[in-house]
Amino acid sequence: MKNKIIYFFLAGLLFVSCNENKKELSQVVDNTQATTEYKQESNEAYTLLKNQCYACHSVSSISHDEIIAPPMVAVKRRYSRMYDNKEDFVEAISKWALNPEKENAIMRGAVVQFDVMPKQVFKEEDLKKIAAYIYDNELEEPDWFKKHEKEMHGGNGRGKGMGRNQ
Ligand code: HEC
Repeated sequence: MKNKIIYFFLAGLLFVSCNENKKELSQVVDNTQATTEYKQESNEAYTLLKNQCYACHSVSSISHDEIIAPPMVAVKRRYSRMYDNKEDFVEAISKWALNPEKENAIMRGAVVQFDVMPKQVFKEEDLKKIAAYIYDNELEEPDWFKKHEKEMHGGNGRGKGMGRNQ
């Protein structure tokens, strides 16, 4: 009799733990689907970023002298200091790209160096995707960029000259 009770007890345990495993498995499947969807979206955003912005905000320029606009990673750093949440960040980048005006620029050093970003035709919807991608992902840095930051801004991107110059 005692053995039987133990047997039922064990069988019960087994049943419960199998069910839990099942639940976990379905959660894993859900998560994987979500990740895949997210990846597809972010692939699309990355393609937009490359096609629409990297022509100027390039990551492949060979030196600091060759570039025609600050690399996007520098824009991200500057905007992240000003806008500390995704919503405001996305809004600010999209608004800027829709209508770049010298008076509204926050990268003043870049405006002096490269002149203000030319006004182009972008879809607001695309800009929001691009800006969200920029916020969520680590962007490539051109090789010279780290060195330049160290020389110009004391190394950590929040150096003394940065606020005033850029
Ligand atoms: C034709 C060249 C060109 C293209 C294409 C371009 N930019 Fe720019 N962008 C510039 C230049 C030059 C600057 C630096 C001067 C300035 O700040 O206006 C700049 C600066 C910026 C800034 C900082 C503005 C500030 O506050 O000073 C943002 C944000 C920006 N670009 C976003 C974008 C996004 C997003 C795209 C793609 C949808 C894009 N740019 C495409 C040339 C370009």
